[in-house]
Amino acid sequence: MCNFIGENNFFGRRCVWVNGPVIVGAGPSGLAVAACLREQGIPFVVIERSDCIASLWQKHTYDRVKLHLPKKFCQLPRLTFPQEYPEYPSKKQFITYLENYAETFDIKPHFNECVLSAKYDEACHFWRVVTVSKTDLTRSETEYMCQMLVVATGENAEGVVPEIDGLEEFSGEVIHVRDYKSGKSYNGKKVLVVGCGNSGMEVSLDLSNHNAKPSMVVRSSVHVLPREIMGKSTFDLAMMLMKWIPLWLVDKLLLILTWFILGNTQNYGIKRPSLGPLQLKNHHGKTPVLDIGAFQKIRSGDITVVPGIKRFNRNSVDLVNGETIDIDSVVLATGYRSNVPYWLQETEFFAKNGFPNGWKGKHGLYASGFTRKGLAGASADAIKISQDIGKGWKEVSNKNKNKQKVPTLRRCISTF
Ligand SMILES: Cc1cc2nc3c(=O)[nH]c(=O)nc-3n(C[C@H](O)[C@H](O)[C@H](O)COP(=O)(O)OP(=O)(O)OC[C@H]3O[C@@H](n4cnc5c(N)ncnc54)[C@H](O)[C@@H]3O)c2cc1C
Ligand SMILES: NC(=O)c1ccc[n+]([C@@H]2O[C@H](COP(=O)([O-])OP(=O)(O)OC[C@H]3O[C@@H](n4cnc5c(N)ncnc54)[C@H](OP(=O)(O)O)[C@@H]3O)[C@@H](O)[C@H]2O)c1
Repeated sequence: MCNFIGENNFFGRRCVWVNGPVIVGAGPSGLAVAACLREQGIPFVVIERSDCIASLWQKHTYDRVKLHLPKKFCQLPRLTFPQEYPEYPSKKQFITYLENYAETFDIKPHFNECVLSAKYDEACHFWRVVTVSKTDLTRSETEYMCQMLVVATGENAEGVVPEIDGLEEFSGEVIHVRDYKSGKSYNGKKVLVVGCGNSGMEVSLDLSNHNAKPSMVVRSSVHVLPREIMGKSTFDLAMMLMKWIPLWLVDKLLLILTWFILGNTQNYGIKRPSLGPLQLKNHHGKTPVLDIGAFQKIRSGDITVVPGIKRFNRNSVDLVNGETIDIDSVVLATGYRSNVPYWLQETEFFAKNGFPNGWKGKHGLYASGFTRKGLAGASADAIKISQDIGKGWKEVSNKNKNKQKVPTLRRCISTF
C-alpha cells in the first residue's frame, strides 16, 4: 500500500497532459477498459502502483487459488480463454491470460506509480491526478491532467485488519490472507484462521492439506454452497434459474439442493443467514462460499470450527463461548476494502466506503469493477465505459482538433 498522505513537493513535480482518459489500476478491470479503448483508437494512460499487471493475482493470492466461477464468466471483453484451459483456470493460467491480454491490446501501464490524489479542477475543467514513485533513494511526483478519469483500483485494494483485544500481545506470527502463499511452512502448527468467507475456507483447506491444524473462526453466519451441483456449476445453475423464476425462489432451490449434498451445515457450527445466498449478495454484497472441499474437512474434524474471538493471549486465544485454545499462528481472512476514499477527492459519486453509485459519475469520472459481481461485472463495466468515452471522443474529434484546449491548458498549468 502506498502512503496516501503525500507531501506536496511543488518544484519536483512533473506535469503531463494526457490526451484521453487516465485509468487508475492495471488489474482485470483497468486492462478491460484499456483494451476496449484501444479497439476504438482512443489513447489512454494506465497507472499502476505495483511493478506488474494484476498485482492482486500475482502478489496477493495464495498458490492454490483457482477461479471459482466457470471460465465463461471470467474472461475479459474481446479475448476468450484458450480452449485448452480447464473450466476453473488456475491462478497461473489466469495470470498468463491477463499478460497475453495486455500484450494483445498493447497496454503498457506506468508501473510503480501510486495515485496519491485525484481532484477535478473546476476552473480548468480537467482532473489533476498526482502520483508518487519511490525507490530506496528517490521519490518523485507526477501530475497527470486529463478530461476523463477511470477508477479501477478494485474492491479488494487493501486487506482489512480488525482490532481485536490482545492481538499485539500474541507472540506467534500474524498475517493477513493477502500475504498467505501456502500451508507448507505451517506443517504441524495450530493455526487460527479468522474469517469464513471464500478465503478463510480455502486457506483452512490448504493448511489442513499441509498437515497443519486449522481452527476457523465463524463469528456470525455464512452460506456454504457446493461449487457444483450434479456436475453443473452452482453459479451457472443460479444464473439460468434467475431468468425464469424470482430470486427468493432460486435461493430456496439452491438451499434445498445444497442440503442434499452437504447436509445441515449448522450441525458443524456454521449457521446460515436468514436471507438466501443470492438475496444476501444482492442486498448486502456478502459473497456465499463456493465450497471446494473445506466442508468435508470440517465434517471429518480436520478443520475445527470455533465461534467469535474474545481476546488473544501470548500463546492462545479466548473465545466467546468461554473456551481457550492454544495457537501458534494467525491468518486473518477478514476481508478487503476499497482505497478510493484515501485518494479521490470527490464525494458525490463514491460513497464513504469507497464504492461508487454506478459506473458513471460527473465530469468524465468512471468506475470499473465495483459492482460486487466479480470479473463478469468488471467486463460489463468496461464495455459501457468505453462506449461512453468513445461516443464523446468522436463528437469532440468531429468538432475540432484541440482549438480551445491548448490555451486553457496553458493557462491552467501557469497557475502552478
Ligand atoms: C483470492 C481472490 C480470488 C478471487 N477469485 C475470483 C473469481 O474466481 N472470479 C471472480 O469473478 N472474481 C474473483 N475475485 C474478485 C477479484 O476482485 C476480481 O477477480 C478481480 O481481481 C477484480 O479486478 P480489479 O481490476 O477490479 O481489481 P484488482 O485485481 O484488485 O486490481 C486493481 C489494481 O489497482 C491497483 N491499485 C490500487 N490502488 C492504486 C493506487 N492508489 N494507485 C495505482 N494503482 C492502484 C492495484 O495494485 C491492482 O493492480 C477474487 C478475489 C480474491 C481476493
Ligand atoms: N477461489 C476464489 O475464487 C476466491 C477465493 C477467495 C476469495 N475470493 C473472493 O474474494 C472476495 C473476498 O473474500 P474473503 O473471504 O477474503 O472476504 P469476505 O468474504 O469479506 O469474508 C471476510 C470474513 O471475515 C470475517 N471477519 C471479519 N472480521 C472479523 C473478526 N473481527 N472476527 C471474526 N471474523 C471476522 C467475516 O465475518 P462476518 O461475516 O461475521 O463479518 C467474514 O467471514 C470475495 O469476493 C470472494 O468471493 C474468491
